[in-house]
Amino acid sequence: MSDQSLQNQNTTGHDFDGITEYDNPTPGWWTWLFIATIVFSAVYFVYYHAGAPSRTLADSFAASKAQHTRLRFADMGTLVVNEANMVSWMNNKEYMGMAEGTFKQNCVSCHGQNGEGLVGPNLTDNTYIHVKKLTDIASVVVNGAANNAMPSQKQLHPNDIALVSAYVANMRGKNLPTGSKAKFSGPEVEIKAWPTAAETQAATKKK
Ligand code: HEC
Repeated sequence: MSDQSLQNQNTTGHDFDGITEYDNPTPGWWTWLFIATIVFSAVYFVYYHAGAPSRTLADSFAASKAQHTRLRFADMGTLVVNEANMVSWMNNKEYMGMAEGTFKQNCVSCHGQNGEGLVGPNLTDNTYIHVKKLTDIASVVVNGAANNAMPSQKQLHPNDIALVSAYVANMRGKNLPTGSKAKFSGPEVEIKAWPTAAETQAATKKK
């Protein structure tokens, strides 16, 4: 810029040791936009954060999750936990897909990503503390164990409990190396293999 054009500019009149300041205010539209964002933030805050129910993201997430659960289970009715049913769920890809989500959300913090054990015991080997037969898994999940060291999972939908129990049963035999150094309420004892589909069907016919 030439000296000439500098002299033509408006200055604020401030002068510090010969240093002057151009008078370049922000454009009106910019100032108003800035004020508008402040006003908007106040309105936004009151609307979403002043405690009115079901307006936060967390609330609407919880609501859609509940709806999702209702939809998923709508055609299923209430699943009945018995050996024959558990064996059939264990072989149902879709059901086991749902149960994987339940396991990842509620169990991995104690039993490890793949059931290999952390503060909770390894669920992939052949030895168990409380489980003697297939349906015992569901009982432990509903009731908890060892004074809630294994917390009751009653907050889950009964169908989620039924399916995640079958999912846990499927982990058996993977024999993942355990990361657990935890002490449990009793020894882990080897139990007999789960019944096969044919065996549970034969047992149901006999009754
Ligand atoms: C807060 C940690 C914690 C969470 C969360 C947890 N567990 Fe456990 N779980 C344990 C502990 C600890 C034990 C062993 C209790 C004992 O010492 O008897 C256990 C035991 C079990 C057993 C019995 C194993 C055996 O050897 O008899 C099963 C089955 C089981 N948990 C399944 C689950 C499932 C499924 C979930 C998720 C829905 C879950 N657990 C969530 C800590 C947990």
